[in-house]
Formats: sequence, C-alpha cells, structure tokens
Amino acid sequence: MTTSRISGFYNMTLDERRQKLADAAALTPPDLGAWTSGGISADAADHMIENVIGLHSLPLGIALNFMVNGKDVLVPMTLEEPSVVAGASFMAKLARAGGGYQATTTDPLMIGQMQVINVTNLNEAKLKIYEKKAELLAEADSIDPILKKFGGGARDLEVRIFNDSPIGGFLVVHLIYDVRDAMGANAVNTACERLAPKIEALTGGKVHLRILSNLADRRIARARCTIPVKALAFDNFSGEQVRDGIIAAYAFAAVDPYRAATHNKGIMNGVDAVVIATGNDWRAIEAGAHAYAVKNGHYTSLSTWGKDSEGNLVGTLEMPMAVGIVGGATKVHPAAQAAVKLMGVKTANELAEIIVSVGLAQNMAALRALATEGIQRGHMSLHARQVAIAAGASGDLVEKVATQMVAEKVVRIDRAEEILKSLSGK
Ligand code: MEV
Repeated sequence: MTTSRISGFYNMTLDERRQKLADAAALTPPDLGAWTSGGISADAADHMIENVIGLHSLPLGIALNFMVNGKDVLVPMTLEEPSVVAGASFMAKLARAGGGYQATTTDPLMIGQMQVINVTNLNEAKLKIYEKKAELLAEADSIDPILKKFGGGARDLEVRIFNDSPIGGFLVVHLIYDVRDAMGANAVNTACERLAPKIEALTGGKVHLRILSNLADRRIARARCTIPVKALAFDNFSGEQVRDGIIAAYAFAAVDPYRAATHNKGIMNGVDAVVIATGNDWRAIEAGAHAYAVKNGHYTSLSTWGKDSEGNLVGTLEMPMAVGIVGGATKVHPAAQAAVKLMGVKTANELAEIIVSVGLAQNMAALRALATEGIQRGHMSLHARQVAIAAGASGDLVEKVATQMVAEKVVRIDRAEEILKSLSGK
C-alpha cells in the first residue's frame, strides 16, 4: 500500500473503485468477487448459525486518507448509516496534516472468569488458589498448543472475593490469557472449563460460570492525533473556533452521561463498521467499550479533546479492543478475509490500532459538525437519496428527487413522491 489517498474515488463506478483497491493492495479477482457478491452463499450461512433462511446485506465502503503509525491504510467499513465513511475519510485527511494517527496496543490479554460458589471460607479458599497458582497456570498454558506456538498462553491468575450478593459470598477467579491474533473467546472459555475441577478440589466449592469477560480492560488500544489549528478552518469558521467548539463538545460528554452515550455512539459508528467488515464480534466490542466508559464509577467519554502548547487540536481515544484475524467469521467469511488483506494487517494488534484510529476520526467528524454547522446538513443529501429510493425513484431520478428535496429543505417521503410524479410525468 503506497497511499490511502485516491482522488476522485467518490465519482468512480463501483467496478472502478474495486479496481483501484486491487491495484493499491494487490487484491485478486476472488477477493474483489467476495465484495461483489457479499461474501457468503446461503449454503455457507447455513453452516454458520441455525435455522438459516437467507442472507442480509449491508453496504461496504472504503474510508480514505488514513495514516496510522506512519503507514497508509485503506479502511473497509460495513454499515448502513450515511455520512460515516465520508466523515472518517475527511477527518483522516485533516489528521494527515499533523502526521496521521499514532496508535498503540497492550498485549492481547483476555480475562476468563470462574465463579466459585458454596465455599465455606472465602479467605482461606482464595489463598489456597494463590498457593497453587504456578501449577494452575501451567495447566491452563498447556491447553492450546497452537496459541502457545505463536507466543500466547496463560499469564496470570487473580482471585476476587464478593461478600455480598443475592446468594451471599462467592469467589471469582480471573485467568489472564494472552490470545495473540485470536479474538480469544474459545481459547479462554476452554481454559476456564479445564481449570474448573482443579479449582473445585482446592476450594471445596463449586465452579459455576466459566466464561470470558467482555470488559477486556487488559487488551487496550489507544490512538492519538494532532490537527494543526489552521487545517480546521472552513466556511466562516476559524480554526480556533472549530478547535474550541470541539473541546467544549467533549467537555459536555466528559461530565454528562446522557451526552457521553451519544458521543461514544459516534465513536462506535467508526469502530463497529471496521469490526463488522473484518468479521469480528461487534457485540463484544460494544459491551467492552461501554463497560470501560464507566470504569471510574461514572459513565463518561471514551475520548478526550484538548490543545497542545502550539494551540493545535489534540484528540485521544482509549478503549478495549478484542478483535482477531485468525478465527471465527474472520476466517470463514471471504469478504472479511479480503478486508483484512486490504488493510495489510499481520497481527490482531495492528487491526486494533487501525480500528481505534477510525473511532477517533469518527468522533471528531461528529463533534466538528455538531460544534459548527450542525449534523443535519451533512446528513441531508444522503438521507434525501434514501427517501427518494423509498418513494420509488430509480436511476437518475434518485439524484434529481434528492437534490430538489434538499434545495427545498423538505426531506419527506410524501414530498419525494410528489416530485417523482412530476419528474416522471405520471
Ligand atoms: C450519529 O450516528 C452519531 C452522533 O450522534 C454522534 C455524536 O453526537 O457525537 C452524531
């Protein structure tokens, strides 16, 4: 990948766009074919979940202009919402002026939980587990030889006591597991199930639940960007106005959970779209993000916005990022495989670094719009096209009906039907 800047991409046909990607990232006809067809057949779907009756498609778009850790990357985004891909691409362009996104990740550590009930003495049981920690870790470590071969495996064991619960006191054992390039649910759940009899023998209790935690707070991705204040100016807004508007918008989310939920939703617009495009579990990512947002006892913004000593806008985002590139749907879904190939990522951490950067870009796109002209202007024309299609427009008429509605500032299905009638002479 030499550049993620492709001029005129917006105006190309779908085939031309796919060809551009093939040239940029050495994609093969089967890769491109996976995107044309949606990736899987109904028969393949029948092997993925139960009671399959067919397929359900979503648009796949490409966010341009991204530079993450000095490398250009074309980012696949799967979602139904207009303005998101354009917003991310535009913010990535502004961020380039400040060196793009700098992103880092922790080791890919997941947490498996074992709930131990019916324990007579919780303190005694806790210490007995710690006394055998090395043995328990060795056992957990031997469960997945493939993961071990790639440098993963059991890393730590922690015991927590809950004294007051609806059933009284119980223990929770956390198994910390390095899952390398997997999302990790299978490896961790297997390890917890395997350790359970040993924990029961040690504590005299019963291991009840054995399951991964989606609050993946040991597997964090972080992104940072600096936007030169001059690059923020547009229309009648000065760079300083836009910068201060974004910072004030962030302040709102920092203190008010009602706003923080929407602010974080904007981040997830970007995050989920890449998570879905790569066949990852977006419910897991959502659960982790929102649980992390309340880690200090107060639901707040996942991102921060401020300025540096030169007055440039500085954004940061930190969140759990349990994504994989080797298992699950990522492995069996050809469109997801092509998405991973397009980005050229070789590790789950590299994918996480791109995703968190897209989340930060998406957040900035929303705050910039909200802090200046409002969100509706950007949404209007794409929304108008959807309304035009819903009213029955096709071909050239979609654009014509949409343009007229935007000009009139009335984007409603009844108006679309009227315009359609007059334009098509029916
Ligand atoms: C809409 O999908 C997302 C926004 O509401 C995010 C935000 O308010 O920050 C625009």
